[in-house]
Amino acid sequence: MGFMGAGKSAALAAAREAGMETVEIDELMERELGLPIAAAFERDGEEAFRAREAEVVGALLEAADGGAIALGGGSVLSARIREALARHVVVWLQVDAEEAWGRIAGGERPLARSAEDVARLLAERLPLYEELADAILPQGDRGLVGRALASIEALAELPAGTRMLWAASPSGEYPVFAGRGLLGAEWWPLEGRRFCVTDTAVGALYADRIGPLAARVEVEPGEGAKTMAEAERVLRELARAGMTREDHVAALGGGVVGDLAGFCAHAYQRGVPVVQVPTSLVAQVDSAYGGKTGVDLPEGKNYAGAYHLPAAVIADTATLATLPSEELAAGFVEAVKTGLLAGGGLWDRVRAIESLDAAALDDVVFACARYKCEVVAADERDAGRRAVLNLGHTVGHAIEAASGYSRYRHGEALGLGLLAALRLSEAPQLAAEVGELLRRHGLPTELAPEVGVDAVLDALQRDKKRTAAGVGFVLLPEPGAPRVGQLLDPDRVRAAVEELRR
Ligand SMILES: NC(=O)c1ccc[n+]([C@@H]2O[C@H](COP(=O)([O-])OP(=O)(O)OC[C@H]3O[C@@H](n4cnc5c(N)ncnc54)[C@H](O)[C@@H]3O)[C@@H](O)[C@H]2O)c1
Repeated sequence: MGFMGAGKSAALAAAREAGMETVEIDELMERELGLPIAAAFERDGEEAFRAREAEVVGALLEAADGGAIALGGGSVLSARIREALARHVVVWLQVDAEEAWGRIAGGERPLARSAEDVARLLAERLPLYEELADAILPQGDRGLVGRALASIEALAELPAGTRMLWAASPSGEYPVFAGRGLLGAEWWPLEGRRFCVTDTAVGALYADRIGPLAARVEVEPGEGAKTMAEAERVLRELARAGMTREDHVAALGGGVVGDLAGFCAHAYQRGVPVVQVPTSLVAQVDSAYGGKTGVDLPEGKNYAGAYHLPAAVIADTATLATLPSEELAAGFVEAVKTGLLAGGGLWDRVRAIESLDAAALDDVVFACARYKCEVVAADERDAGRRAVLNLGHTVGHAIEAASGYSRYRHGEALGLGLLAALRLSEAPQLAAEVGELLRRHGLPTELAPEVGVDAVLDALQRDKKRTAAGVGFVLLPEPGAPRVGQLLDPDRVRAAVEELRR
């Protein structure tokens, strides 16, 4: 499924190469009608064409069992077709309006005779594609579907409701699976032996669900495990367990395990693959994607690390049921941040969440993963757009540092950082709404008395992302419209931090 020019024919070619039977709906309709689609539109009008398409394609989908079908760009407009899709794995091939027009201009497309037509029609159909997709593939080269096919086919075997996102960025690509019960599904995305790195709490709960494991290496739960010393211990345990470059690491746990195990995978024999299996909300909405890994130094958090993209991500949202409620709330702040950055429907969904039950979060986890992967795709190495993800982090990190990384969870400090960033963005209403949202979920909205404003401002001056020009803030005057690299007058920054006292 996808818009005109999305590459549906190339996708079918990949499916045929893999031995599947294929049907192209545009061709099928031309055979049914006995004339080209453009001519049928001309003769009978769009409505008559759509009615016939609904009958023919509806009946085909209702009976089909196996194989690959490429829908027409507008097939999803029919309710009968949409209903019939429910029993199939629906793959959305994404394309943006500019690229679509570039690919189809000059062809016979009755509904798309100009770039404006394309932009309007695409905007109309996007919500339908979005609602129907089980797998989302980004705009890519002709070989993309072939490379993603095994992950697409896996969806037929995985628990109902599982969704897959193909994350692609300059140095690599990988599938992200999100759904309930993925860990019990006796399925794994990679060949080779698995060496699980986890913490003792998560390992006890879930390690036996991702077996068979060649070895299990555990660290103590919490940020204290993200050190060079622990990285060395993990690396040595992996070596003693006989891990080779044919094997891979399974990082099972929250963001701490993901960062540490990813870093170890990057370093072990100069690099082995890592499958990220995030089990905390922070990790499922944010840290498992994009390949930033690392450990803390006594001199600073995340000061030693590497970019190491996962080979796959498996986010089983059922694991959130055992996450302590304060961790769930702290993780929710990352979703708030992502909602603010994305704006639109995602922000509406996040701000509407009344209680952090799993049902409310399933959708948000997948949507946040999508947003993060899109940002990383545009800027894997943090040279530009990826900096938006630091919204709230500048003050948030400073609060964590000033309080010795022990007073607040990362998400709690981020919440305070978001409030400061929104006030600095001169978005008082939005700041008030976010404050309300944080309070609703039991999160702090005021700086604790023992954390000094001067200590926070000092920590800001040591920010890792500081350049010669100063500390660049991400500002957000309104949802969906972040502005990066904003240098601010120190007095305004002080005032925003002081305001967190009130
Ligand atoms: N790499 C990135 O892009 C990125 C992004 C954001 C945050 N991070 C990092 O992530 C870390 C924070 O991650 P976190 O908040 O997940 O912390 P965490 O990994 O310490 O997990 C929080 C606690 O929850 C427990 N836990 C996790 N999943 C559980 C489950 N399903 N059931 C029961 N208990 C469970 C853990 O044992 C731990 O005690 C920080 O170190 C931060 O720097 C990295």
